[in-house]
Amino acid sequence: MDKATKTPTLMIGDIPIYGQLILAPMDGLSDASFRWITRKLGSAYSVSEFINTLDYANQKSYEKKRLLYRDSERPFSVQLLDNDAVRMAECAARIEEEFHPDMIDINMGCSAKSVCGRGAGVGVMRNPQLVRDIFRLVTQAVSVPVTAKMRLGWDETNHNFIELSELAVENGAKLVALHGRTQKNSFNKPARWAPIGELKRRLNVPVVGNGDVKTVADARQMLNETGCDAAMVGRAAKANPWIFSWRDRAEVSVTEVYQTARFQLKDMLRLQPERGVMPFRKYLKAYLDPYDLPRPQMKPLLTTDDPDILLGLMNETFLSLGALVDAPLIIDYSEIYR
Ligand SMILES: Cc1cc2nc3c(=O)[nH]c(=O)nc-3n(C[C@H](O)[C@H](O)[C@H](O)COP(=O)(O)O)c2cc1C
Repeated sequence: MDKATKTPTLMIGDIPIYGQLILAPMDGLSDASFRWITRKLGSAYSVSEFINTLDYANQKSYEKKRLLYRDSERPFSVQLLDNDAVRMAECAARIEEEFHPDMIDINMGCSAKSVCGRGAGVGVMRNPQLVRDIFRLVTQAVSVPVTAKMRLGWDETNHNFIELSELAVENGAKLVALHGRTQKNSFNKPARWAPIGELKRRLNVPVVGNGDVKTVADARQMLNETGCDAAMVGRAAKANPWIFSWRDRAEVSVTEVYQTARFQLKDMLRLQPERGVMPFRKYLKAYLDPYDLPRPQMKPLLTTDDPDILLGLMNETFLSLGALVDAPLIIDYSEIYR
């Protein structure tokens, strides 16, 4: 894409964003390799898995690994999660100095009991003063735009996303991503999109809609019905990162699935060799799911710890499914536009 001649789809502060689909931040899923694939396929910008600033402040080494990204993956946003505005601001400043992200995102949506129980994640939504403090202090601490990602509210009787979005924006937030659920209906009930439209009509910063976008038709429907600036795709992306190129899974050839899976495994091993093949298995399982392979064929693929054996098994498996394993690359994941 020649960005010089393109009009941005939206602006986050002074950062131009091109494209209307974005990979949602997902703990354990949106790592550097997967984000890279989705960016190359068309995801408009990247958000890290959440950084727990309590652990970051205590120098837990795994938090830094979540800050791995490639320079050409920019715009890259680092998401912070905590219940302490001062600590979040201090960590945001340190992260900006050391890792130079383009944006900082504030997690107001994580519904895990261990997180929201201590007033972090969606727990922040129960405390408007904390929302005010987080955005005021974090925006003062960094030079890059700060954004919010939240749910509708804590429960059905308390949908305070409009009030809190306005508070966040008054205190410097440059975008709000809204997941159309509450803490209480964690993932059980379908996401509601009408509130996304309501928020879009109220705010003068971009609004990103999120929740249950599983297909290209869903994405178009969310954008059309709500008028939101972009749609964020979470769980469905695991099995179909090609959604970011506006393709449903059925439209993706087995050769392309093979090439993507192969790149991903090699890239994950290159970036984090100490983790081995294990973290890759969940993607491979999701990529192979539509082919309904018999269990005895799946089992070695999902149990071997040896990268070379796994690459050999993948080669055999995809060949048996009709992939052209020596075909030229359909998407060249080795480079990405700036
Ligand atoms: C495994 C998993 C991990 C997640 N981790 C995060 C996270 O680190 N930060 C965040 O803001 N949301 C996180 N979420 C929520 C997603 O970003 C998204 O809001 C949610 O999955 C709804 O979108 P979907 O219906 O497209 O999946 C996570 C969701 C899942 C399923």
